[in-house]
Amino acid sequence: MRERIRIGVLNGPNLNLLGRREPHHYGTQTLAEIESLLRERADAGGASLIFLQSNDEGEIVDWVQANTDAVDAWLVNAAALTHTSVALRDALAGSGRPFVEVHLSNVFAREPFRHTSLLSDLAIGVITGFRVSSYLFGLEALIRHLRGSAGAEAE
Ligand code: DQA
Repeated sequence: MRERIRIGVLNGPNLNLLGRREPHHYGTQTLAEIESLLRERADAGGASLIFLQSNDEGEIVDWVQANTDAVDAWLVNAAALTHTSVALRDALAGSGRPFVEVHLSNVFAREPFRHTSLLSDLAIGVITGFRVSSYLFGLEALIRHLRGSAGAEAE
């Protein structure tokens, strides 16, 4: 494992509206604020991030393909595409890179259609319901996983 871990942070449809979108589900922090918190934590953990938000499934699939060689792992909040997108599932599987699935809201406390994820069985793990902390826990989990699987100290 190289010293600096590279992580691709993928954000799906409507997450550009965080801060004013259904704050009872998603909290009040904007995606820019989440990005900046993640970059701070990543830096402290010896990781660097590339970041995407898109409302377009095709653009997200293209981004995964184009950046696979540039990352060691993905941190994924696929938003609604979590529940619908075979194309994103296939892109992540095809990348051969591990990923953690995160959600701001607790999807299991919401409508039944949100209880199904087309990604979870491929993920290292899933973190759901902790608002912005879901992303931070997910990042931490990925860094630990990557360092651990390289045989380096995980603690
Ligand atoms: C979400 C949960 C999804 O069900 C929803 O479609 C989203 C956001 C979350 O972060 O809680 O857009 O992924």
